[in-house]
Amino acid sequence: MPVDIDATVIENRRLSADYNVLSLAAPDIAAAARPGQFVMIKTSGGMDPLLRRPFSIFELLRDGSGRPSGISIFNKRIGAGTTLLSRVEAGARLPLLGPLGRPFEPVGPPAEAWMVAGGVGLAPFVTLATALAARKTRTTLLYGARRADELYCVELFDALGVTIVLATEDGSRGVRGRITVPLDAALGERPLGHPAKLYVCGPTPMMRACAQLAAVHGRACDVSLEQVMGCGLGGCYSCVVLARGADGGTPHHTRTCVEGPVFDARRVVWEAV
Ligand SMILES: Cc1cc2nc3c(=O)[nH]c(=O)nc-3n(C[C@H](O)[C@H](O)[C@H](O)COP(=O)(O)OP(=O)(O)OC[C@H]3O[C@@H](n4cnc5c(N)ncnc54)[C@H](O)[C@@H]3O)c2cc1C
Ligand code: FES
Repeated sequence: MPVDIDATVIENRRLSADYNVLSLAAPDIAAAARPGQFVMIKTSGGMDPLLRRPFSIFELLRDGSGRPSGISIFNKRIGAGTTLLSRVEAGARLPLLGPLGRPFEPVGPPAEAWMVAGGVGLAPFVTLATALAARKTRTTLLYGARRADELYCVELFDALGVTIVLATEDGSRGVRGRITVPLDAALGERPLGHPAKLYVCGPTPMMRACAQLAAVHGRACDVSLEQVMGCGLGGCYSCVVLARGADGGTPHHTRTCVEGPVFDARRVVWEAV
């Protein structure tokens, strides 16, 4: 069950003009959270913005004795709410609801895991990488951005033993081009019978391209969709996408906050996203 608390801001770590990591005291949410789940945050004490905003749980924080103490979020400033979250100071209190949504299911050996992140789509992968490391699953992060200075927090994945493949559109770090370039190459290198699963989060065109590559190479692929959400609880229908049933049946409008945000990529009707 999600819990609704007033969370105290522990720290606001600014990474750049547009990105920051916000740490929040939330022991009950941290204790219940599973990889890829999200929270709804009220970004202001007033009426504007009125609605809470959805954010992936970035890190699970622990106290000195290892008990879950809070969460962090990886925030990209794009509008009113995310601008307020970029400026908030330690000690402030923010209404926080979670954990919410359908999580990623981490694979175990002998299967290999490939996490594919575009920009702020990195956010759900620290918790997934932690769960995969606990299962001793061989894991690769393929992480793309426009420029080198838009690649953040790679060291968190290094510390978990994840193999890291970077790509930038301008070639300033890693492979030149979109992250689908090294993904396509990696998929082509592995023999067909080799078990591997893709986990993807990023801009819709990137997720669509990864889903197509996974289908061509016959790989399982889960995507984490980032639709606009009004409530996060299934009540407002602002977050629907057209998706087939789990059995591949007729597509229907599906609430991403309760049936997602994680979907088997084959279920999503990509032309309609
Ligand atoms: C499950 C989930 C997890 C998310 N995790 C993160 C995260 O970890 N870090 C993070 O920075 N963001 C994340 N997002 C996106 C984040 O919720 C939006 O950026 C935020 O709601 C925008 O609020 P705002 O008030 O700043 O923008 P607004 O002022 O409401 O909007 C500014 C502009 O951005 C557009 N916009 C709003 N929401 C989205 C969206 N979801 N996708 C694309 N465009 C949008 C609006 O249409 C408008 O044009 C997540 C979204 C979902 C659904
Ligand atoms: S966000 Fe309200 S139903 Fe999904």
